[in-house]
Amino acid sequence: MLIDFHSHFLPQIDDGSRSIEESVQILDVMTKSGVDLIVATPHFYCTEQSSDKFLERRTKAYERLKPHLKEEHPEIRFGAEVLYDHSLVNYEKLPDLCIDGTSWLLLEMPYCDLSDKIIDGVAAITDRGDVKVYVAHIERYLNFTPMKKLEKLMQLDLIGQINAKSLTTFKTRRQCMKLINNGYVHLLGSDYHRIGRGDITVDKGYEIIGKKHPNFEKFAEKNGKKILNDAPLGDVL
Ligand SMILES: [Fe+2]
Repeated sequence: MLIDFHSHFLPQIDDGSRSIEESVQILDVMTKSGVDLIVATPHFYCTEQSSDKFLERRTKAYERLKPHLKEEHPEIRFGAEVLYDHSLVNYEKLPDLCIDGTSWLLLEMPYCDLSDKIIDGVAAITDRGDVKVYVAHIERYLNFTPMKKLEKLMQLDLIGQINAKSLTTFKTRRQCMKLINNGYVHLLGSDYHRIGRGDITVDKGYEIIGKKHPNFEKFAEKNGKKILNDAPLGDVL
């Protein structure tokens, strides 16, 4: 089962798909690549809008797209890519932003040096007990923070996702492989935004990783199924 845990294909809700037509095109690409299930994760910024408003907008975007969906398109689940903010520690409605039917939250880190205050804040989120965290595209933060600090983050009670596209260039592939070797990567996502942006589907990412880690796709699939069923991940944390 091929699952994409990070995407922006819902129309006109964030910086992803610009139209219903583009959303359908993206889903066509997913279908061709054999993606069985895709989690829609539009950006959510708690300092800019309420979670209720966001969920209303997400439902509206889906309702507009729904009549255009094809039978062969992947199954759709709903989540959000939530940008970290210190206020999330006590944000009452945080569980509403998890993948529907689960307690898994896609958390995007700020694009800066990861301070102890930020890492402590993420630790406090994981300690809340009502959400479990998967961190978005962990390889990207290495442009802003040293590996040591990223490692400190990843040693918390959370898991990591990388973008398939990051496996296509030498420098970022090397970083991704290091993160995989260190056990920080549990899932792939396409982070698909728009047609023509160079985003790639997760199958291609698994293919690249598979050359060095033939069992990784099975490992990620196992994690993915557990996440969607909100079952304990077992010993991967
Ligand atoms: Fe994203």
